[in-house]
Order: sequence, then C-alpha cells, then structure tokens
Amino acid sequence: MATADPLRGRDLLSIADLSVAEVERVFDRTTALKDEFRRTRRHVGPPLAGRTLAMLFQKPSLRTRVTFEAGMAQLGGHAIYLTNDVVLGARESVRDVARNLDRFVDAIVARTGPHEVVVELAAQATVPVINGLTLREHPCQALADVFTLRERFGSLRGVVLAFVGDGNNVFHSLALLGVALGMEVRLASPPGYAPNARIVDRARSIAAAGGGSLILGVDPAEIVREAAVIYTDAWTSMGQEAEAEERRDAFARYQVNADLLAIANRDAVVMHCLPAHRGEEITSDVLDGPGSIVLDQSENRLHVQKGLLAEILGDPVD
Ligand code: CP
Ligand code: NVA
Repeated sequence: MATADPLRGRDLLSIADLSVAEVERVFDRTTALKDEFRRTRRHVGPPLAGRTLAMLFQKPSLRTRVTFEAGMAQLGGHAIYLTNDVVLGARESVRDVARNLDRFVDAIVARTGPHEVVVELAAQATVPVINGLTLREHPCQALADVFTLRERFGSLRGVVLAFVGDGNNVFHSLALLGVALGMEVRLASPPGYAPNARIVDRARSIAAAGGGSLILGVDPAEIVREAAVIYTDAWTSMGQEAEAEERRDAFARYQVNADLLAIANRDAVVMHCLPAHRGEEITSDVLDGPGSIVLDQSENRLHVQKGLLAEILGDPVD
C-alpha cells in the first residue's frame, strides 16, 4: 500500500533503490528547501530538529562530508563525522558498529571501498543507511547531477549525456538514474574499463521501461557527437591508487579538452563530480570554461541531500 511518506526510514544503497516517483519526490522537496534556503538562509521549523546522523567515512571527502554536515545543521539536526576512529571490520565488526550506532543516532551515511560493506551495514542497522560512495555506486552524486541537469534542461527525455573515461561508481549511478528518466547515456571507456556487467544489464532493463538508452563504446570522438552533456571523472578512483600508472597509459586518449568539446553540441555543458585532476581527465580551460557546470553540481549536493534527508528522516509534508 502506498504511504504518504514512502521514503521514511529507507536505505539508499543503489540509486536503483528509488523509483522514478520517489526521485521526483526527493527533487520536489529539494526544490522547496533550496528556494527557502536561497531566500532566507534559514529553514522555518527545521525539519530535522533533534535528529543525528553518523558519518562513517573510510575514504577522504570534501563535498560529501561538508554537504551532509552542513545540510544536517541547516535542517536543525547534527552530524558526527567518524573516520580513522572507526575502521569497519578492524577495531570492531561491521555488525557491532551498526548495532551500537543504532542506539545512538537516527541515520548513517557510509563511504567505503567494497559495496558489500554498506550492504552489510544496512542489513545490520535498523536505522537508515545512505551510501556516500562505494567502489560500485555514488547515488547521492547522481541525484545532484540529474537535479542540476533538470534545472538546466527541464525534461531530460532524449537528452544525450556522453561520459568519457572510466565505467566507474559515478558512471554506474548516473547511468541507472539517467536512463530511468529517459536520457540517452553514452560511455567511451578503454578496453578493460567497461562498467560492471550487472549494472549494465540493470540499466538496460530500466531503460527499456523508462524510454532511455545506454550506449557503450570506446571512441570518445564518436560518443560526444551531438551530445548536450559531456561528463568525466578521475581515471583512478580512491582505492585504486596502485593502478594509477597503468591507468594513466590506458586513459591517455580519454581527456576532455577543447578538441573533444569542439565535436559536441556548440552549447554542450561539461560536468565532473570532482575532485578533478587537471591535465589528466580534463584540461583547466574546459573545467573553468563557459560550459562548465561543475560548481552547480557541487552546490546541488547540499540541496539534494537535504531533500533526501528530509524525506528519509523528517515528518511528512503532505
Ligand atoms: N564528488 C564527491 O563525492 O566529492 P568528495 O569525494 O570530495 O566527497
Ligand atoms: N570515482 C571517484 C569519485 C570521487 C568522488 C572515486 O571513487 O574516487
């Protein structure tokens, strides 16, 4: 049976955990909070007063950490950042960490290496668990990216997004959400760096239902043709540092630069989840150029996560 607040108490481990209607619901809440925050820098009757979020981060972060912490404060709640103090599975098992946090806080955001760790955390915790990035997915990033594109394009049906580089966590979540909303999501990655086959299958079945499409290739010049959005991310993700040199060689041809941009739509926008590695996956002239919307993406991390937290932890608005 549908409830008035379908996201209350829910986990967000994969972006595919949310239906399109639930994503729309998060976006509606985000829009209301963003408008209010931009007008007054305050939220009336803050929706998360008295709520506490534990943030278990096993990897570094600027955007995810600060936007969750600032977001909780702005919504009247509190966040506790835990990094070296709690190395999951080292000082204590994931299960024991989850069962203790359950007694203290209202929700957990976790950033881990293996995706299975957040899955286990969510299985053991009774409070909601939000994936703040694993090697498989980055759902909060995808929500912010798609929200940013919606602000710019309105409907995303038929909008072509070309992702140049690694078929990684950021690509996985973006592809799953983009095709659900009717986008044509393309990827050019070097042989051996294609996305996870199960995610590809999932995205293809979501695309079939949602009207979007997923196109995988190897040639950056081919996929950016007529694209409205060019997206890239680090060649080496956190946790893959030992492969950095090998990856620099494999990805040398996969740089978003002025030559590549010249092949895309004249008014194409450029996206990057950040942090960027200037001179590797993207050149400074493009990252700082007129088509770049990377700081809008980054700002929207704050707003969409507030929308998400308000939906998961707050009282219903309707
Ligand atoms: N995009 C993103 O997740 O950035 P951080 O790694 O700084 O959190
Ligand atoms: N793919 C990158 C994203 C960083 C936000 C990583 O996992 O390191």
